[in-house]
Amino acid sequence: MAAPVQDVGAVRDRAAVRDPASASSAGPWSLRHLHLDLRVSFAAAGAGRLRGHARLELRCERDGAGGAELRLDSHPTLSVSRAALLPPPGGPGDAAGQALPVESRPFTSYGSALHITLPQAPRAGQLLTLLIDYEAGEGPGVCWLSPEQTAGKQKPYMYTQGQAILNRSFFPCFDTPSAKFTYSATVKVPEGFTAVMSATSWEKQKDNTFVFKMSQPIPSYLIALVVGDIVSADVGPRSRVWAEPCLIEAAKKEYDGVIEEFLVVGEKLFGPYVWGRYDILFMPPSFPFGGMENPCLTFVTPCLLAGDRSLVDVIIHEISHSWFGNLVTNASWGEFWLNEGFTMYAQRRISTEVYGLPYTCLEAATGRALLRQHMDATGEDHPLNKLRVVIEPGVNPDDTYNETPYEKGYCFVSYLAHLVGNQSKFDAFLQAYVNRFKFQSITADDTLEFFLEYFPELKEKGVDSIPGFEFDRWLNTPGWPPYLPDLSPGQQLMRPADELAELWAADGLNMEAIEAVDITGWRTYQLVYFLDQVLQKSPLPEGNVKRLSKMYPKISKAQNAELRLRWCQIVLKNNLEAEYSKVKDFLHSQGKQKYTLPLYRAMWGGSEATRALAMETFSATAPQLHVNVQNYVKKILGLGGAEA
Ligand code: BES
Ligand code: ZN
Repeated sequence: MAAPVQDVGAVRDRAAVRDPASASSAGPWSLRHLHLDLRVSFAAAGAGRLRGHARLELRCERDGAGGAELRLDSHPTLSVSRAALLPPPGGPGDAAGQALPVESRPFTSYGSALHITLPQAPRAGQLLTLLIDYEAGEGPGVCWLSPEQTAGKQKPYMYTQGQAILNRSFFPCFDTPSAKFTYSATVKVPEGFTAVMSATSWEKQKDNTFVFKMSQPIPSYLIALVVGDIVSADVGPRSRVWAEPCLIEAAKKEYDGVIEEFLVVGEKLFGPYVWGRYDILFMPPSFPFGGMENPCLTFVTPCLLAGDRSLVDVIIHEISHSWFGNLVTNASWGEFWLNEGFTMYAQRRISTEVYGLPYTCLEAATGRALLRQHMDATGEDHPLNKLRVVIEPGVNPDDTYNETPYEKGYCFVSYLAHLVGNQSKFDAFLQAYVNRFKFQSITADDTLEFFLEYFPELKEKGVDSIPGFEFDRWLNTPGWPPYLPDLSPGQQLMRPADELAELWAADGLNMEAIEAVDITGWRTYQLVYFLDQVLQKSPLPEGNVKRLSKMYPKISKAQNAELRLRWCQIVLKNNLEAEYSKVKDFLHSQGKQKYTLPLYRAMWGGSEATRALAMETFSATAPQLHVNVQNYVKKILGLGGAEA
């Protein structure tokens, strides 16, 4: 029987978890609340400015912590004009505060350290409020789009993307997932624009000023702001969609009436949804991710507007972060699999409840194919193919992003469920886990220790050290997952796709057998799976892909982004020059990292013609890509960018 556990890990000093990606004093200090007061102004095309101040309410956790100095994460593009110590609220003292010496010092390629000198070394328990007047806008966390880069093409747009370490160019703070704090913001925007944030409450006041309050403690990377010509429409009792006016109808149609069920199933499985609202904001096409789980307000790529809800797994994924990631958070980016692996597992639990096991296994098989492709490309032994990644000081955590934390993480969580051997017991464990660590930042040691305490009979059996499946091996050895969950319930959907791919890979095409397979009723993920098989077998014998293209316009002329990606990959791997323009069109139409990089890799690894196509496409689209994506593409094309 599972024992209720109250106190696991309480003895560990979680504040001691060092995040090498942060220069801040998080640990000796805790940040209790952050308030941002900002004015947003758009400048020339693709530029703009944030001006105002950040107010940080801090508490000293250790006597004399760090001497009389406090450090915040910042960025060379963030310019601080003044730092001041504010008097306690309601107490005597100059409201403008006592000015403090402040200096920005180099830290890494992705940030700097703001050193603030305090009047004296603090005592444990001491509260302190800092006011920092600053300007920002040119850094990688704040993205400015020209009107042409929006769907409506009329007005500029700005958004912030914090994960992993980009918010230090948006506001000075403890930019580490090990620190959680509440925040509020007052944002004044130009006439004709609307501001939204990842916050519990939202209010429009006079002078186009928007006021936000996030009443639950969150890590810095989950603070997000959008300013644009956006409107909203209700799609459920606690959900609405946000989009530019020209997209709002499509956005509403895509998700009207479907979101609530995912939330209800999530609550049934993992416990209360604590964030109040769950809204979705459709971003401009250059948004680099499928989705970003900003609390209360998920940001998504407009590619999800497929017209048939077929890409809703992204929404279920971001909803799942409401428990895994946003409530229970990785304490450093080396433990990113805790966010993404558990979320993949939660996503597939919700999907199983709503869509059934066969469909969910099919979707999981496409995930496994991505992991296979990734490990083939990097080599299984690559150090990034461990769950617990060692991120050396100076290495940008964003540069370690890959499929391993997602899909190997999913396998490990599935393995834990397999050890338990009973789905409802494992579901109960997940709920207890969320309840135990909610609003905290943890490491895999906390997770696994809690698992073994929760299932003492498994601990007794020594399940953490079964040869070949040691927990330590899962975490610290690169390579293909030692355990793969059984996806055979998806066979009924996968087998026809496997068989059809076989037929298309044959030397002399058996058109009779091919024509006997009717794919008109296939779901998007069945087609995706089929295309993954075709890609794996590519290059196909001369002429086959051309025929395939003609035979299935539903695939080769698809508007669905997941199908377009696979089709473009097939076109490139088979040197189907007649359809190279599709690759170019797809890359012009959106800037999602997971679509963009594989296509540039394929082009660069191909012929002279595809290399030229890559160069031509990149020089035309670079300005509209997120700066991180731009750098990764540059690196692929040998143009001297960051690590990819
Ligand atoms: N949190 C991630 C996106 C992210 C990761 C942004 C790391 C910055 C750094 C988000 O939840 C995510 O995983 N999105 C996926 C969705 C997919 C797995 C269903 C995406 O964008 O493809
Ligand atoms: Zn995720």
